Amino acid sequence: MPRIIVLRLGHRIGRDQRATTHVALVARAYGADGVIISGERDDALIRRVMGVVETWGGRFEAEYRGDWRRVLREWRMRGGLIIHLTMYGINLPDIIDEIRERWRERDILVVVGGEKVPGELFHIADYNVAVTNQPHSEIAALATFLDWLQEGRELRREFPGGRLKVIPQRRGKKVVETQDRYIKP
Ligand SMILES: C[S@@+](CC[C@H](N)C(=O)[O-])C[C@H]1O[C@@H](n2cnc3c(N)ncnc32)[C@H](O)[C@@H]1O
Repeated sequence: MPRIIVLRLGHRIGRDQRATTHVALVARAYGADGVIISGERDDALIRRVMGVVETWGGRFEAEYRGDWRRVLREWRMRGGLIIHLTMYGINLPDIIDEIRERWRERDILVVVGGEKVPGELFHIADYNVAVTNQPHSEIAALATFLDWLQEGRELRREFPGGRLKVIPQRRGKKVVETQDRYIKP
């Protein structure tokens, strides 16, 4: 299956810590293979995200790249598609089938902005996609896009190899330590 990577632009230490962490956690939980964070370098944030992967399992990569234009160039050179989520784009229901069809053969880079988005991104992207043409949040836009792209299948995805696992309950919380991390001597 082609990969899905999320690129978060314009991260600012302090002001965006929570939002960028949530972008990364949503990317992971909703079936993306990794997140690339651009803007200010924030190693602690990357470590926290990878800590979640270690605890809760699955395969997911988080990395910092200072030069986002280069990320896009490299992605394009390797034949990947670039999707920019923006309220000014084509509304999701009108374009998602076309994107899903192309995703069968090409990796997808989903780009979400921060406070300010450089205008050139609108021209570099293969698709500028809106999740409604109203202003809201990169976290909500990302979750909705990933869900529509995968038609809800990501909600049943397993996350093997973690230390902890939730056993779903109608009421209360049940969390167990998984066996698979203990290797018999
Ligand atoms: C809080 S917005 C700020 C956008 C900024 N004012 C600009 O220059 O466009 C941050 C990010 O949320 C995402 N976003 C917000 N509303 C959206 C929508 N309706 N559809 C898709 N993405 C959206 C976009 O990725 C955007 O870059």
